[in-house]
Amino acid sequence: MNCQVTRHDLERFRTAIVREIGLHFDDAKLGFLGEVLQRRLDNLGRSAEFYLYSLGQERGDGELNALAQELIVGETYFFRNNEQFRALAEVALPERMRANNASPVGLPKTLRVLSAGCASGEEAYSIAIVVRTTITDPSFDVLIRAVDLNPIVLAKAARARYSSWALRDTPADVQRQWFRPDGRDMVLEETLRAAVRFDLGNLASDDPELWQPGAYDVIFCRNVLMYFAPEQMRAAIDRIAHSLAPGGFLFLGHAETLRGVSDAFHLRHTHETFYYERKENGGPACRRSAQPALRLPSGAAPVGALGAAWFDEIREASERVAALVPALAADIPCVSLPSAPWDVAPALDVAPGAFRRGARLRSRRNAGSRTGPRHSAPRSDAACP
Ligand SMILES: C[S@@+](CC[C@H](N)C(=O)[O-])C[C@H]1O[C@@H](n2cnc3c(N)ncnc32)[C@H](O)[C@@H]1O
Repeated sequence: MNCQVTRHDLERFRTAIVREIGLHFDDAKLGFLGEVLQRRLDNLGRSAEFYLYSLGQERGDGELNALAQELIVGETYFFRNNEQFRALAEVALPERMRANNASPVGLPKTLRVLSAGCASGEEAYSIAIVVRTTITDPSFDVLIRAVDLNPIVLAKAARARYSSWALRDTPADVQRQWFRPDGRDMVLEETLRAAVRFDLGNLASDDPELWQPGAYDVIFCRNVLMYFAPEQMRAAIDRIAHSLAPGGFLFLGHAETLRGVSDAFHLRHTHETFYYERKENGGPACRRSAQPALRLPSGAAPVGALGAAWFDEIREASERVAALVPALAADIPCVSLPSAPWDVAPALDVAPGAFRRGARLRSRRNAGSRTGPRHSAPRSDAACP
């Protein structure tokens, strides 16, 4: 079937994508959206009317997964913004271990980490390396979970085989320790691979299993929400706030901020990076409503008056400058650029017992589900919104 997509169809398609996946496409991307819609109609042999109607009725989200493959490029690499991993190792994990150490006698001490929008697994496995080398207390039960809407990238994550480009910010000794070369690829060490559970998941949906109250100690949700429509971003942050334990930590991408989006978090600043700590009684009710969600870098958004979130203001101003003059930014002494050279912090030294810990993780993880390949090959023409 080769039907012509009308402007009206396109608008309905764009609205459905915001509603079902969260992603916002501006007018400049309408041509791209039209091509995607036409391709889906041709593949499925459906009319635009029927397809657009059924998009909201999908059960099992099969079509949303197919759309995710068409619409999103999951650019990522190991230890992206490595200062956040140092903050994870030296602040977030120790604080959460202290908090969880107080578990009543007999109950297991747990630590739960979520990589939300994990793409092909580099972020989740970087977390696993940090966890493995930081948490040496064998009485801790650690679960690292990773979700993405795109089954193709999840299949790649499950293979845990990467090009050297994916390891461009990973120092040689960490590579030697956790990867083995195989042809031109690097293959992740088996116990680390088994330490992460990958699942299909949609950050734009109210999945009660994914978003259980207080379920996670740390959530990484980086470089996903910047592509969301403002309302969908707020809703996703509400879910995250709800499912983070009080005192739990949220790491966003460097171009993302909660300013004007949520009051449920304290801003934290260490290791030359910013991240968020869930307030003790923070939750969706703390959400602010008046200000627009920020999407950086825009270069044009006005900077508001300095208030309690002055860290955010400074950070955003720095990032705006960096975005406007990327070639010069390295020479501006007061601008703190996101990717500092990787510093193999003491916390990433291999600690005694790390491998024993890995064995425990492996046996637990093998009991969990693992997402396998479901489709043939990723499209090469996909684009970020
Ligand atoms: C740019 S990648 C970010 C990967 C990683 N978090 C990082 O920062 O390196 C964005 C990922 O978000 C995923 N994504 C986009 N919308 C999503 C949604 N509604 N639910 C789950 N994942 C989504 C995409 O499939 C993609 O893999």
